[in-house]
Amino acid sequence: MAKKPNGPYEYGFGTRTIHAGASPDPVTGARATPIYQTTSYVFDDVDHASDLFNLQTFGFIYSRLTNPTVSVLEERLANLEGGRAAVCAASGHAAQFLTFFTLLEPGDEFIASKNLYGGSITQFGVSFKRLGWHCDFVDCTTPDNIKAAITPKTKAIFIEVLANPGGVVLDLEAIAFIADDAGIPLIVDNTMATPYLCRPIEYGADIVCHSTTKFLQGHGTSMGGAIIESGKFDWTGGPGFPTMTEPDPAYHGLTFFETFGDFGFTMKARAVALRDFGPAMSPTNAFNTITGIESLHVRMDRHVENAKRVAAFLESHDAVAWVSFAGLKSSPYYDLAQRYLPKGAGAVFTIGLKGGFDAGVKCVENVNVFSHLANIGDAKSLILHPASTTHRQLTDEQRIAAGAGDDTLRLSIGLEDADDLIHDLDMALNA
Ligand SMILES: Cc1ncc(COP(=O)(O)O)c(C=O)c1O
Repeated sequence: MAKKPNGPYEYGFGTRTIHAGASPDPVTGARATPIYQTTSYVFDDVDHASDLFNLQTFGFIYSRLTNPTVSVLEERLANLEGGRAAVCAASGHAAQFLTFFTLLEPGDEFIASKNLYGGSITQFGVSFKRLGWHCDFVDCTTPDNIKAAITPKTKAIFIEVLANPGGVVLDLEAIAFIADDAGIPLIVDNTMATPYLCRPIEYGADIVCHSTTKFLQGHGTSMGGAIIESGKFDWTGGPGFPTMTEPDPAYHGLTFFETFGDFGFTMKARAVALRDFGPAMSPTNAFNTITGIESLHVRMDRHVENAKRVAAFLESHDAVAWVSFAGLKSSPYYDLAQRYLPKGAGAVFTIGLKGGFDAGVKCVENVNVFSHLANIGDAKSLILHPASTTHRQLTDEQRIAAGAGDDTLRLSIGLEDADDLIHDLDMALNA
């Protein structure tokens, strides 16, 4: 619980995970946020309808744009991340697409960390290229590399502060400083840490992206994504951001930054990108995610505690060549994790097996409590051999840069008893 010295009382993180953005339903008194399973909303009259369509008043038109259940989740995420506003999407990848569509024009460039979730590397490097957006993948473990890669066409920097799956932690503050100096937004994918372990906006990030599919929802049931805007970025500076500062023909010449100021990016992402491409989050998935977030603070503590115990066990196992987990003192990222993730370095990490590719396959086929599948951030413990699955489309060089070589297994440590997880892995490794 935090009380501002001279300001209003501020609720603690745990209280906000349960209450932010939600209140009992004013009509029925329903205590849980209802699932507003509706596509559309009745207008008061023609003037009301036209005000809504012209963005001259706020309200609900059609669930591709806004939905009351999704709105609760958006407000909760903005609150937990310390941002100004948020917009949800059907998946984490949809959120990334909406973010870049709102920022870039054909011919623009952005810089992304080499240490990213494999699907993001493919999205940025292959699919975005077809839209005329060029991504320059940079080794961001040395922030000066970013500075050297910035060109007059660079419109953003995209990083995961805690990378999936390599356990790489970046120097967020140093990178935010470089972005600020260049007048370009720093976008942080905070999926792996969640706002419980790290709030990138507090270190200077301008936009935070999430795959809510993972720890935020927390039970492996519902896809989702989110974009949270800090509200602090000046879109009139840097290399220029015409999508934010020039009149939009689709809204009678409205200029999003001038009209909506510190939540202009969210408005544009919703009113243009979400409206025209359509990857809206379903109200049921929003409901499941709201419910998941209510226990985020409690779950994350247990995820972290279990991850530490399992990682320490694996580090001393004969079949294991290395463990890459920023929560271990042996990790080169331990100090950065202490600084940016003081409550714990998450619960997803990689290990390398002395037996290489074949040993990896054998292990995933012999676990019982762990599930062999392509997800992270579930209450259930998960295991994956990235080289043969998620990172398959990447080149050898990209896979190694992303921490997913042939010998590598990715573990997402769940909420079971740590002793059982250790026993399960020991059995599978000795099989
Ligand atoms: C760090 C990270 N970002 C983004 C994504 C993409 O999210 P989604 O699968 O919800 O589209 C993932 C998925 O694994 C991820 O791990």
